[in-house]
Amino acid sequence: MTKVIKNGTVCTADRTWKADVLIEGETIKQIGENLTGDEYIDAEGAYVIPGGIDPHTHLEMPFMGTTAAETFESGTWAAAAGGTTMLVDFCLPGEDGSIKNAINEWHRKSAPQICADIGYHMAITGWNEQIHAEMKDAVDMGVNSFKHFMAYKGALMVEDDEMFASFQRCKELGALPMVHAENGDIVDILQKKYLAEGITGPEGHAYSRPAEVEGEAANRAITIADAAGTPLYIVHVSCEQAHEAIRRARQKGMRIYGEPLIQFLTLDESEYFKGDWMHSARRVMSPPFRDKSHQASLWAGLQSGSLQVVATDHAAFTSEQKLMGKDNFCLIPNGSNGLEERLAVLWTEGVETGRLTPNEFVAATSSNVAKILNIYPKKGAIVEGADADIVVWDPKISKTISQANHHSVLDYNVFEGFEVTAQSRYTLSRGEVIWAWGQNSQPQPGRGRFVPRPAFSSASKALSKWKELNSPRTIKRDPMNIPAGI
Ligand code: URP
Ligand code: ZN
Ligand code: ZN
Ligand code: ZN
Repeated sequence: MTKVIKNGTVCTADRTWKADVLIEGETIKQIGENLTGDEYIDAEGAYVIPGGIDPHTHLEMPFMGTTAAETFESGTWAAAAGGTTMLVDFCLPGEDGSIKNAINEWHRKSAPQICADIGYHMAITGWNEQIHAEMKDAVDMGVNSFKHFMAYKGALMVEDDEMFASFQRCKELGALPMVHAENGDIVDILQKKYLAEGITGPEGHAYSRPAEVEGEAANRAITIADAAGTPLYIVHVSCEQAHEAIRRARQKGMRIYGEPLIQFLTLDESEYFKGDWMHSARRVMSPPFRDKSHQASLWAGLQSGSLQVVATDHAAFTSEQKLMGKDNFCLIPNGSNGLEERLAVLWTEGVETGRLTPNEFVAATSSNVAKILNIYPKKGAIVEGADADIVVWDPKISKTISQANHHSVLDYNVFEGFEVTAQSRYTLSRGEVIWAWGQNSQPQPGRGRFVPRPAFSSASKALSKWKELNSPRTIKRDPMNIPAGI
């Protein structure tokens, strides 16, 4: 069975050209002119781009005394409607602390539900022999990246020595360490200080997590990664201070990656200062939205290449769940939505404004993610032999984002009222159309697959070689030239 995506403009991270795309089964068979097949998909007037890959989601995540409301089923459907064909979700260890069991638990939850493909990152929330050993199991199970929380003191936070040990283990295994960069000790002190001063509302969330606290942690994580000899991926970069640390490290040749969120590029901290408590609480996430001035820095990072990918950190808690922090902002479950909106908002605010080229848009939403996470060009590319994860991206469909028309289970949308100027006309996952514009039926739950990601990316191998060649070594000396002791 073959399909041809006909008369579109193929747009990849490198180039843009008129071509048809022939799909055989689940893979791209040929790219060229006047191709024929059993079925045709109309791409006239549209771009044909690699399916979006969201490198950062939290579906059904147990967190802060509750569980994120977005399910693997609703999340992957929302993703498909928004042009995202793969997401990478964060596994958290359960009570037994086992990494292997956590991955199996994520499989148990996700496998029957997913409509599109997924991968996992694993969270490292402490350090002991079992974790050291099971990180190898995780890599063998296709999980090649490990997130470390420098915040959430008393819960998920790890200390510097634990992070260093884990980063060293990542280096041995060829895996990629990731960090949530915020100084959790300072956040904890500031939270207590503002609560004591009577600031109990969501504005306290912003005040207690200043940008400097993120910048400090980013610098510290970079230092630890350099000492351990490993690349590093900094998740949800929200501010100039963290971006500056990444920029400086990259200029020195360090392999540091930075991930701004679509929320941080387009929403700002004034959301926390509204009179409507619920409006502000719905936007509580960590790090928080920043002063508007930080947005220019993040856009510049995407333009210059110092920041590589745009994610969502989709962690969807309902209004009722947000009410857990009614009297204390520290208890508002942290997280916001964006899985369905990421591509359309980035296109509208990025490409339509001239900040990004269409090719840079593809790089940030798909190709760079696949490269960094070591699944390129199976994912993130339009090339013969790649998985046929393809979006027919229509730059002429406009829409007003709203809770009323989204596919998330959330009862609100942080992008409510945004006018976007592009949408997915068709989303194909491994050759199957799982979304067509205007469609109401959901793709088959369980048709999605877990995508194992191999260790030892080319960047990790190159850095290991460089560190090995430049590692400290004993200077051989003629014993005759060493002065005798007294
Ligand atoms: O507020 C956020 N970001 N919630 C999800 C957990 C995390 O820190 O990524
Ligand atoms: Zn500490
Ligand atoms: Zn985080
Ligand atoms: Zn997150």
